[in-house]
Amino acid sequence: MISEDTIQKVKEQNDIVDVISESVRLKKSGRNYSGLCPFHHEKTPSFSVSQDKQIYKCFGCGEAGNVITFVMKYRNLGFTEALKLLAERANIQIEEEGQKTVRKDPYERLYKINTEAARFFYKNLQGSKSSKSYFLGRGITEGTIRRFGLGYALDNWVTLLKYLKSKGYSELDMLNAGLIIRNEKGNYYDRFRNRVMFPVFDSRGRVIGFGGRVLDDSKPKYLNSPETAVFKKGTNLYGLNFSIKNKIEDRTIIIVEGYMDCISLHQYGITNVVASLGTALTINQAKLLKRYVDKVIISYDADLAGQSATIRGLQILKGEGFDVRVLTVPQGKDPDEYIRSNGRDAFLKLIDNALPLIDYKIKRAKEGIDLNNHEMVISFIKNAAEIISDLNPVEKDIYIKQISEEAGIKEQAIYDLISDNIHKNSSNMQDMNTLDNFGQKLYVEPSYIKAERSILRLMHDEKDAYDAIIKTISKDQFIMESHKKIFDLICENIDLDHKERQNRIELNCDNIESSKEWTHILEMELIYEDEDFEKLILDFTKEIKKYRLEESKKEIMNKIKQCELNGLMDESLKLAQELIYIQKELGRL
Ligand code: GTP
Ligand code: MN
Repeated sequence: MISEDTIQKVKEQNDIVDVISESVRLKKSGRNYSGLCPFHHEKTPSFSVSQDKQIYKCFGCGEAGNVITFVMKYRNLGFTEALKLLAERANIQIEEEGQKTVRKDPYERLYKINTEAARFFYKNLQGSKSSKSYFLGRGITEGTIRRFGLGYALDNWVTLLKYLKSKGYSELDMLNAGLIIRNEKGNYYDRFRNRVMFPVFDSRGRVIGFGGRVLDDSKPKYLNSPETAVFKKGTNLYGLNFSIKNKIEDRTIIIVEGYMDCISLHQYGITNVVASLGTALTINQAKLLKRYVDKVIISYDADLAGQSATIRGLQILKGEGFDVRVLTVPQGKDPDEYIRSNGRDAFLKLIDNALPLIDYKIKRAKEGIDLNNHEMVISFIKNAAEIISDLNPVEKDIYIKQISEEAGIKEQAIYDLISDNIHKNSSNMQDMNTLDNFGQKLYVEPSYIKAERSILRLMHDEKDAYDAIIKTISKDQFIMESHKKIFDLICENIDLDHKERQNRIELNCDNIESSKEWTHILEMELIYEDEDFEKLILDFTKEIKKYRLEESKKEIMNKIKQCELNGLMDESLKLAQELIYIQKELGRL
């Protein structure tokens, strides 16, 4: 027997559209996806998959079910076998319950202890004037405190520890939940002390962790639970459970940065709001949202960190097929501050005025441009041309008109620039590497860039691959400087766990180029089936070698031309020999 909870988890973590897409070609049509039914022969699609409901149904043959029944039917498996297959797909450990002793969900205890801690914090808040007035002072009402379960961790070292002990939990339980810390001497103490507490719920409303904020200006401002078996960063969105409860209207959600932004908007009756909690959005979070919404309005701080988080988030969301808008809060405020000083209607206006992605990109490209400075105008037009180059002709026309008016440049000139860009030689390194993260890519990226990125990603993701790579490749073999830097960073931090290493590298990418590249590396889709890393690595290094050889070839051919022009026949013959050698090498690759 496999527990209800495990079954639930397997369903949750195997999105039906993803799973079925592995065997059936699906096309989005309206809210659902449709394709040719795999269970009977047909020429026109009558097989429909609903992402919100996580079910499929064929209007031709009547076959219908959920993700598990699909796998059973499609692969001709029994329930348990299908479940195991899906569990494996989602990296979920299956624990079978014994015949007699019914074992519960292994995480049950974690949810329980977290709930108990949340209750304790809540009670503390009710009994502590100072912390309660912290929330009230920030405009949070009693009702909101109750609904979001806000609390307070006392200014003591072991209050929670003692309390949970009295409730029958062990230190190990508390450590597993990240609620206490063990010092070098082996003594335990509460992780959260003298902080107002925000319980973090999963989408089903279970408490999975906490964030705690200081009541003054001390640091760190927020302290979060560490990763635990149920609190996995980048897989959840704060507030989603409340949004779902309130029914998400128009399949639209607003993503803000902070706990307080989220709570504050909810309190003002804007309940389709979740918070990413200050970190960049992940693909997992995007997939989670996809079940409930098609449109995302992203509202991050106008500060620099906020903007780069926005950019990353946008790329990910666009990649998952959302209609993406960007809401900018004026006056350098965050959503919480803004709605409290300007009211609900003012914020609703901001939502209405949220810019479509392209407009936001153009707006950003225009920032700081002095229209009297010719060089600046030219560079703006170039960037703008890049941004709109992928649009359809009608959209292009609209945007070109707009840009032309704003910059005082003839429309035709912008058209010329776009078609010019498209015909440009794709191996133009200079342009390649200075391309804004943001602008649409006009060129197909040379494959050596992808190869280098793939190598670095493998090093970061797979220890076995890392070992194989450092035996065969040295830093100097990389072509891009930023990749050399990242190579070093991975090596220096290889002993850290995956997440920590990722953060460390992010922090240590000390120029824009390498931090952009790091983003690319993390976000690229790297698919490898069997784990024959050596073969993979060989393929990637071949790409890099090929590029080097091509470059040398170009250089030598230029030299030969020069020599012939100057009558240096001996020299030119020597070069021709080299050329033949290179040609051969290329042939071998
Ligand atoms: P308030 O000052 O309470 O309004 O917070 P804020 O949400 O306006 O703060 P900010 O914009 O600085 O941070 C946004 C989010 O990033 C917070 O809600 C936290 O989730 C996270 N964050 C901020 N500071 C820290 C920190 O020091 N450590 C960690 N781990 N997260 C932080
Ligand atoms: Mn704030």
